[in-house]
Amino acid sequence: MEVRVFPDAYGAALYTATLVETTIRQLSSPVLGLATGGTMIPVYQHLVQFHRRGLRFEHVTTINLDEYIGLEPTDRHSYHAFMREHFFDHVDLPLDCRYIPSGATCDLTAACQAYDEILRAHPIDLQLLGIGVNGHIGFNEPADHLKPHTHVVELTEDTIRQNARFFDAEERVPTRAITMGLQSILFAKRIVLLAVGASKAQAVREAIIGDIRTTVPASLLQLHPQVTFVLDEAAAQQLP
Ligand code: GLP
Repeated sequence: MEVRVFPDAYGAALYTATLVETTIRQLSSPVLGLATGGTMIPVYQHLVQFHRRGLRFEHVTTINLDEYIGLEPTDRHSYHAFMREHFFDHVDLPLDCRYIPSGATCDLTAACQAYDEILRAHPIDLQLLGIGVNGHIGFNEPADHLKPHTHVVELTEDTIRQNARFFDAEERVPTRAITMGLQSILFAKRIVLLAVGASKAQAVREAIIGDIRTTVPASLLQLHPQVTFVLDEAAAQQLP
C-alpha cells in the first residue's frame, strides 16, 4: 500500500487527478470507477481543466460506485445529477459509456444484477474512492457482514447526518442506496482513495493501520495489491 500526504487538499486533489489523467493517456480504452462526495469535486474540476487543455475522454468508460434509492436521475440531489454538474457536462465522454446504478426503479434486484453485468463486461482499471467518517467506501456501510456484489443498503445514521449537508434537511436524505460491493471494488486493477480534512483522520488511520474488519469497510483495501491513499496533512494526522 502506498500513502501520499500533501500539505493541503488542493495538492491531494491535483495529484489524484493526475493519476486519472495518466491512466487515460496510457490505455486505449480505460475504464474508470468513479466516486461522488464533496472530496471528489476538486478532482473533477482539475479533470475538466485538463480537458480544456486537450485531454480527451472519448475513449473512456466510467462506472460510478453508488446512487440513492428513490431519487430520479433528474433530481438535483441524485448522484446522476452530481456527475453531470461536476464532470459529465464538461467533457467529451460518450453518453453510452457512463454508468451509474439506477436508484429509481421498482425492480432493485434486477438493477443490481444489471450493474454486475456491466462490471463484468468492463473491468475497472482505476477505481477512485472517497471515505466516509465511519470508514465506508461507496455505500458499503460498517456491518458484521459485507456484500461482494451490487446490493441495496440501509444507510447508517452517521452517513445520513454527514450527507445531509447536500440536502435541504436531514429528513430529505434517502435512507437507502444501491452500491457496488466489496468484491467489485477490490477487483479494480488500481485503487486510489482520496481523503482530506481532520474529520476523516480516524477512519483513515483505521483503514491503513487498523485490523482488517467489516466494521471499517475501507480496511479491506489492505488486501489489494495496488492501492494508494492520497491524503492532506489533516487527514493523515493520526498516522504514525
Ligand atoms: C458518500 C459516498 C461515498 C463518499 C462519501 C464521502 O457517502 N457514497 O462514496 O466517499 O460520501 O463524502 P465526502 O467526500 O463528501 O466526505
